[in-house]
Amino acid sequence: NKTHIGLIGLAVMGENLALNMESKGWNVSVYNRTVPGVEEGVVERFINGRAKGKNLHGFTDLKAFVESIAAPRKIMMMVRAGSPVDELMEQLFPLLSPGDILIDGGNSNYEDTNRRVVLAESKGFLFVGSGVSGGEEGALNGASIMPGGSVKAWPEVKPILQSIAAKAPDGTPCCEWVGPAGSGHFVKMIHNGIEYGDMQLIAEAYWVMKNLMNLSNDEMANVFDGWNEGKLRSYLIEITTNILRHKDKSGDYLIDKILDAAGQKGTGKWSVINAMELGMPLGLIATAVFERSLSAQKGLRVSAASQLIPQHASVTLDKNEWIDRIFSALYASKLVSYAQGFAVLQRASDTFGWQLNLASVARLWRGGCIIRSVFLNDIADAFEAADKPEHLLLAPYFCKEMQTLLPGWKALVAQAMTAELPVPAFSSALNYFYSLASSDLPANLVQAQRDYFGAHTFERKDTARGQFFHENWTGHGGDTQSAHTMC
Ligand code: 6PG
Repeated sequence: NKTHIGLIGLAVMGENLALNMESKGWNVSVYNRTVPGVEEGVVERFINGRAKGKNLHGFTDLKAFVESIAAPRKIMMMVRAGSPVDELMEQLFPLLSPGDILIDGGNSNYEDTNRRVVLAESKGFLFVGSGVSGGEEGALNGASIMPGGSVKAWPEVKPILQSIAAKAPDGTPCCEWVGPAGSGHFVKMIHNGIEYGDMQLIAEAYWVMKNLMNLSNDEMANVFDGWNEGKLRSYLIEITTNILRHKDKSGDYLIDKILDAAGQKGTGKWSVINAMELGMPLGLIATAVFERSLSAQKGLRVSAASQLIPQHASVTLDKNEWIDRIFSALYASKLVSYAQGFAVLQRASDTFGWQLNLASVARLWRGGCIIRSVFLNDIADAFEAADKPEHLLLAPYFCKEMQTLLPGWKALVAQAMTAELPVPAFSSALNYFYSLASSDLPANLVQAQRDYFGAHTFERKDTARGQFFHENWTGHGGDTQSAHTMC
């Protein structure tokens, strides 16, 4: 009587995934390492606690755990990303049989997953690197799951993973095969980057309403609540409403007592690093990451505030007129952020030969995950259109949306700048939009400067692309060119 799947790592995500699997009719073996004095009794506590009376079987011996699972074995690892995954794999390898499947459900770096797929396959095993989004709640009741890696593993793991995934409003499971190698974790990384962007944008909307419109927490909650009925309907807008209304035990709004210093675990940063490696603009997410870093420099900001802008310009915005403009800034900037994120996915797909289906990625983010929202349907439709857009903002629907939103968006950014109120993500998005919509940019001067000081060469407007020229700018620079590289 072997079990259907094994799960290693009983922190909250692992426990909840195991309970979720069991509730869908799967028999699950669970294992957690035992380190005397550090991690003891984890398995026993789970089996005698939340797992009591359920089809969950606990093991403290790794060999016995592996042997309890039906072949080909499916083993989901929910351990900390990084070296713990490698260490666990080394312990598992001698215990596995050919064709067994390891699934890494943590927030692993996609390059680690690339390497692990090759390693596992070289030993006759299969490896799935799967993004899992939705936090504790999603793990228990339905997550968004982004599996990639050894494609032969997909038919084996599909029934289990799709059964524990969230269902989109149309009933489809938010779990679909992403592609080879580390593509599942790459997609999860971009999901997290977009999550950073969405959070920063919502925070800026809050900040304008609070500081320039002097709205109370309840009034702001009502605005977000209203937006959650329309095109911005999403999980993050919904929880923002709840957060703004939440009072602590002493009856005060908790939001006003939370220190404005944001943390980060690294997936936003990875998104930006990888976009840079691929030569792709991802400015909105970069801004969101850097704003978290600047927010964490609280002490510096406190001293700078009194020295750099001792007296703020006094600006008060009228309620009825400005809520619409904040909406425009938020929605348009969000569109820019998703357009940038999906363009990075497309570039990664082309560069690494992953053949990602962007419509399918948009669909699997519609439920379960942190960035779930109604407008992912519009994104999926745009990528599925017969005329695939060259860029998301050039899809006819979004092109029209941007034109409608632009007047309010730019008015809001201009007003915030005059009021000396930071809206870095709204303005980064607006600048990207202006650059994107400029057939000419001043990069001709940048190229001339590069060539002047370093003979880096330039292309000309009056010759075909791909021909590079060097000018002897000073008359004594000579004709030697350095190699030109385009990224
Ligand atoms: C999810 C989240 C999750 C992420 C946390 C923390 O999809 O469920 O993206 O995976 O790790 O939200 O991220 P930061 O600490 O970097 O904000």
